Amino acid sequence: MGCARYDPTWESLDARAVPAWFDELKFGVFIHWGVFSVPSFGSEWFWWYWQKERRKSYVKFMEDNYPPGFRYEDFGPLFTAEFFDPNRWADILEASGAKYVVLTSKHHEGFTLWGSKYSWNWNAVDVGPKRDIVAELAASIRNRTDLRFGLYHSLFEWFNPLFLDDASNMFKTRTFPTSKSLPELYEIVNKYQPEILWSDGDGNAPDTYWNSTGFLAWLYNDSPVRDTVVTNDRWGAGSICKHGGYYTCSDRYNPGHLLPHKWENCMTIDKWSWGYRRNAQLRDYLTIEELVKVQ
Ligand SMILES: *[C@@H]1O[C@H](CO)[C@@H](O)[C@H](O)[C@H]1NC(C)=O
Ligand SMILES: *[C@@H]1O[C@H](CO)[C@@H](O)[C@H](O)[C@H]1NC(C)=O
Repeated sequence: MGCARYDPTWESLDARAVPAWFDELKFGVFIHWGVFSVPSFGSEWFWWYWQKERRKSYVKFMEDNYPPGFRYEDFGPLFTAEFFDPNRWADILEASGAKYVVLTSKHHEGFTLWGSKYSWNWNAVDVGPKRDIVAELAASIRNRTDLRFGLYHSLFEWFNPLFLDDASNMFKTRTFPTSKSLPELYEIVNKYQPEILWSDGDGNAPDTYWNSTGFLAWLYNDSPVRDTVVTNDRWGAGSICKHGGYYTCSDRYNPGHLLPHKWENCMTIDKWSWGYRRNAQLRDYLTIEELVKVQ
C-alpha cells in the first residue's frame, strides 16, 4: 500500500487494486433481508411488482391475505425478526465455509436495517424489530469468526418522493443523494466499517448525480476502511462492468473464464429471487452441482 491519494475521477479510482484479501477468500454469502421478507412472496421486488407493475399474482396475494387498504408501509411493524440470533447466524455462516458475508443494509424499499438518522421512522430500530440488525450481525461476525463483514446499499429508492422529484427534473436537482443516500453511506462506513461496500440501484441516474467519485475518493483516502475496503461496480448509470472495484456486470454474472479485472459471480440459490419467498417450489432451487459447475 502506498500513500498515494486518489482523485475523485474514474481514471484515478479505477487504478486502485482490489485489496488482496478479496483475491484469497473466494467465497461469500449474500443475504437479502428486509420488510419484503414479511410478505415473502414472489421476490424482494414485491413492492414494485405489486404497486407499480400491478402484476396479477401479487395483487391477488394481497387480496387473499391482507385487508383492503393495506399499504406496503404497514408491513414495517410486522417485520419483527423475533428469531434473529446473530451469534447463530455467524456460526452457520462460518460452518458453510464462507469467508465473507454481505447483508442488505437497505434495499430499494428504503428501509434501513440500522438505526439511520436519515431514514426517519423507516428503519429497524424505530419500526419492527426495534434492534440494530447491522450492528448486531457485525458484532457477532467479528467476535466469533474470521469472516469479513460487508454491506449492500441501494442508492435509489423506488418510491421516495425526493428521488422521484429529482428524476422528474432529469436529475438536475440532487436533493435525494445529498439528504439521503450519501449521508447514509458515510454513516454505515463510519459506524460499521464494512470491508465490502456493495452498491446497487442507480435508478438510471448518472454517477455525477450520486457523486460516486467524490464518495469513493473519501472511502479510499480517508475512511476508516480505506486500506481494506472492497467495492463493486454499480455507482451510476453506465458504471457497471466499467468503473469501481470488482465487476459484477449483471446479476448471476459468470463469464466462464478468467478476466483481466477482478469480478464476482453474484449468484442466487433460488432461480427467481434473491430474498426468501414462501411460494418457492423445491424445483426452483438450483442444485449444488448446478451452483458450482462452470456454465
Ligand atoms: C463475544 O463472544 C464471547 C464468547 O463467545 C462472549 O462471551 C461475548 O459476550 C461476546 N461479545 C459480544 C460483544 O458479542
Ligand atoms: C462530492 O463529494 C466530495 C467528498 O465528500 C465533496 O467534497 C464534494 O463537494 C461533493 N460534490 C458534490 C457536487 O456534491
